[in-house]
Amino acid sequence: MSDSKDMDFEAAYLQEKTQREALEVQLEQRTKEDEAKRLVLEKMLDEKTKEVESGINMIQYQYDDILRKKKELELLLTFAKLTQKTLTFDAVIATFLNETINYVSASIGLPAISKEGEWKLVRNPKYDHPSAEELPQWEADLMGIIEECEKERTLIQKTMPLPGYDESILVLGIPLKCEKSIKAVVLLIINNMTSLDEALVSQLKAASDQIRIVLEKQQSARRLEASFKKLNLAHHELKEAQGQLVQSEKMASLGQLSAGVAHEINNPIGFVLSNIDVIRDYANDLFQVLDKLDEVMTDESKDNLNKIKTDVDYDYIREDMEEIMKDTRSGLMRVRDIVADLKNFSRIDQEDHKSLSLADTVRASLKLVWNEVKYNCKVHEEYDDEVLIKGNSGQLSQVFVNFLVNASQAIGESGEIFLKVKLDKENNKGIFSIRDTGCGMDEETMQKMFDPFFTTKPVGVGTGLGLSVSFSIIEKHNAVLNVDSKPGKGTEFTVVFPLESAEQKDQDEIAS
Ligand SMILES: Nc1ncnc2c1ncn2[C@@H]1O[C@H](COP(=O)(O)OP(=O)(O)O)[C@@H](O)[C@H]1O
Ligand SMILES: [Mg+2]
Repeated sequence: MSDSKDMDFEAAYLQEKTQREALEVQLEQRTKEDEAKRLVLEKMLDEKTKEVESGINMIQYQYDDILRKKKELELLLTFAKLTQKTLTFDAVIATFLNETINYVSASIGLPAISKEGEWKLVRNPKYDHPSAEELPQWEADLMGIIEECEKERTLIQKTMPLPGYDESILVLGIPLKCEKSIKAVVLLIINNMTSLDEALVSQLKAASDQIRIVLEKQQSARRLEASFKKLNLAHHELKEAQGQLVQSEKMASLGQLSAGVAHEINNPIGFVLSNIDVIRDYANDLFQVLDKLDEVMTDESKDNLNKIKTDVDYDYIREDMEEIMKDTRSGLMRVRDIVADLKNFSRIDQEDHKSLSLADTVRASLKLVWNEVKYNCKVHEEYDDEVLIKGNSGQLSQVFVNFLVNASQAIGESGEIFLKVKLDKENNKGIFSIRDTGCGMDEETMQKMFDPFFTTKPVGVGTGLGLSVSFSIIEKHNAVLNVDSKPGKGTEFTVVFPLESAEQKDQDEIAS
């Protein structure tokens, strides 16, 4: 029983051993297989890690690139925006300086501006070199770069030892052009760098091209404005000249006409005037004869004569005769004056123009009419005694007297007259002006006031010749007449005379 038991046990043991061994082989096999798998997986992981890493690098690179492009775009955009603004030249340069300093991380930046062919460094306290004592030394170095920029007309970069810096530093010179000339050079100083990469250089060049557009736009805007102003002025002058021309044309033809008429009327007026005096004397003689007759006549003939005297209204005739003669005489005197005016008007030439003081001529004219203006006008006088012009004092007096009489008549009851003689040194002119607080003129009167015989005054007060004669005289003095008037407010006449030139004066002195 025990033997068979032992046998069973051994057999079981053997079987178990075989089974275990088989299991061990199997396990070993598995482990080997697992190891192989692990190796494969590890390899795969390695590869994936590498792929991810290169992906990350790529993304980083693209991110940097985008950031750089963004910065580039921002820079160009800033300058592009400048074209839409109206900025001063200095403001454009300052913007370019500030933006480029940030863009290339420069430690110092300063512009040099060209004025009349000379370059000047403009010191900006914000970006200036810290030590002012070193500036002279700096200036020489920087001037070299500016000159090179001007010669090469492009961006210049140079490493150079600068005082105050241990290591070599990079200096950039960026020329800013406008049309054909270089208006400014912006200098940028960058530490810890020996050269600028290609992309940055072309970016800065593009930026300076943008500034060129801005500056050129500014330049043409300025030019446009200037020519617009000139055009406006020319238009104004043309209009004035046209007005004067029309007036002169009228005057010239009227001058010829009136010269003829005046000449024709002058003679008959002369003898009618003297005949009137003779007739008055004759009449007086005849009255005396009649008086004498009265004394020597018989009563009968006296009665007859008295009858005739009553029939013809002798007493009235005798009384009225004197009055009629007086009126006729004064009427003829007026005609004679008008004719004299007309003759003056047609014969106002430049002969007899002498050096004269404008203020003195005005003073003398005021004296002439003082009796006429003193009752209703308060006259204010303001004279520059230095104003010397070349002219005919008699004719000019006629002009000033006419202005004064017109002003006094426009004033009526009471008002003020402002007389002024002013020196306009800058334009080489002497200015006369007369302003009154009278009735002023409406549009229609303004249009017609220079027309000969135009008057708004009652018969016997105005002849309407004053202003047309004055106009001719003023024109012959190469002067310009301007009028400003408002109905109810008053009127101002201004006459701008050319000053007598120094050489003219010398010639006159030699001649006299
Ligand atoms: N200072 C003035 N204020 C208002 N009107 C004026 C003045 N001067 C001239 N005038 C106007 O111009 C007209 C022409 O002037 P003028 O030629 O001197 O002739 P007159 O004085 O004989 O009328 C005047 O009748 C008047 O209507
Ligand atoms: Mg007058």
